Amino acid sequence: MQRILIADDDAAIRGVLRDLLQDEGFDVDEVDSGQGVIDALGKVNSSRPSLVMMDVRMPDRTGLEVLREKRTTNGEQLPIIVMTAYGTSNVAIEAMQLGAYDYLTKPFDLDDVLLTVQRYFEHQRLSEQVLELSSRLGERDPNEVLIGNSAAMQDVYKTVGRVARSEATVLVSGETGTGKELIATILHRSSSYARGPLIKVNCAALPETLLESELFGHEKGSFTGAINQRKGRFEMANKGTIFLDEVGEMSLATQKKLLRVLQEREFERVGGTISVKVDTRVVAATNKILAQEIEAGRFREDLFYRLNVIAIHLPALRDRMDDIPLLVEHFVQKHRFTPSSEPARVSQGAMDALMEYDWPGNVRELENLIERATVLSHGGVITEQHVSFFGADSRRLIDVGERLRRGTTIKELLHDIERQAFTEALSQTDGDRVAAASMLGLKLPEFNKRSANFDV
Ligand SMILES: Nc1ncnc2c1ncn2[C@@H]1O[C@H](COP(=O)(O)OP(=O)(O)OP(=O)(O)O)[C@@H](O)[C@H]1O
Ligand SMILES: [Mg+2]
Repeated sequence: MQRILIADDDAAIRGVLRDLLQDEGFDVDEVDSGQGVIDALGKVNSSRPSLVMMDVRMPDRTGLEVLREKRTTNGEQLPIIVMTAYGTSNVAIEAMQLGAYDYLTKPFDLDDVLLTVQRYFEHQRLSEQVLELSSRLGERDPNEVLIGNSAAMQDVYKTVGRVARSEATVLVSGETGTGKELIATILHRSSSYARGPLIKVNCAALPETLLESELFGHEKGSFTGAINQRKGRFEMANKGTIFLDEVGEMSLATQKKLLRVLQEREFERVGGTISVKVDTRVVAATNKILAQEIEAGRFREDLFYRLNVIAIHLPALRDRMDDIPLLVEHFVQKHRFTPSSEPARVSQGAMDALMEYDWPGNVRELENLIERATVLSHGGVITEQHVSFFGADSRRLIDVGERLRRGTTIKELLHDIERQAFTEALSQTDGDRVAAASMLGLKLPEFNKRSANFDV
């Protein structure tokens, strides 16, 4: 059972909170001073609280002093929720910067109190889960951990687990940024080919003739510029894995050659006659729907069946939104402000914004956003101000009612609306400032002057 300590010099408040939390099944202790909190957190046995709800104003030591005393040098989060009087949001923010998990303002709404407490324990659970997922895959490298708990991701784990040790060819599909390359890396690391290299080829990046020589190598003099014999990626990947990224972009002629390699495990270098044999695991990826490409005559059906021995489809992030908190936890751990910083923390407001967005760029977009927000927040608390969606500003309408409830001034609100107007005008005119200015009924100098406030 979780133990919560309530620290407040007002016995009436302690009583209300105690009843509330006990009803929810928590063990509750009380103290009436800052020293009481310091003593309790210093305990090492089971009477140490899992969470402290602490008033900021107490007779002996203020809550902020307690936080300063308990704070570790690297700014680790403390299991403390601070309670402040209404209208002292600067104190609340300072408390969070000193490591408090969150704050509540008095007089409080009891539902809010419970929500914040539950969110704290949920956050603890998520951090533990990230650690567990990392260790389950036996990986230390945060770049090679596959995160997600949704049903769709559970299916992915199962398939990865089943095929990892086999030699079967795998076709990974999914939208941009869903983790196709990550899957290829994990498949390689856990296979019997892991002692060999993982060689990646982006089939979309090269024109047809170069791609062939890239994949299969060439003999000296086989074409202008082929001064020496050169080994191709397939030869380099011998005893390892070759990752054919964007395989749907390959020309039909190259597809034919690839089919032969898959069938016979041998090929000739461009301009050559001797057959080269390779023992290579093939993992291919595509963000196209290959069935449609086959239909349109752009992809060979026989090659599709050779590649698609095992299919792994990665779901779009918007179809597994319940994975977002876990992914966010993973990315704040992965992208520290400095290598020795504790992970940044994410406010509920920022999390709400992340949960409302539709994620066209999937996990990569989420990861980039967290990385950027960590820098903007100096590794402290990521709030909704640090969370911005590239090109999406104009799609997220400003909800005036919601903003008023959350607390805003008319100045802030108008500033945000104005920024949205500038961004949207620039995006509708493809960045043409003259056209954007005229769209907003402004002369160019005025447009430039005002838009300079928004870094657009
Ligand atoms: N399930 C996941 N858990 C943790 N990190 C992930 C997950 N999926 C993707 N990522 C991270 O997101 C980023 C993008 O992933 P990746 O490059 O594998 O996507 P992709 O599907 O190959 O995208 P593209 O089609 O644009 O090439 C990487 O940094 C990757 O580590
Ligand atoms: Mg990729």
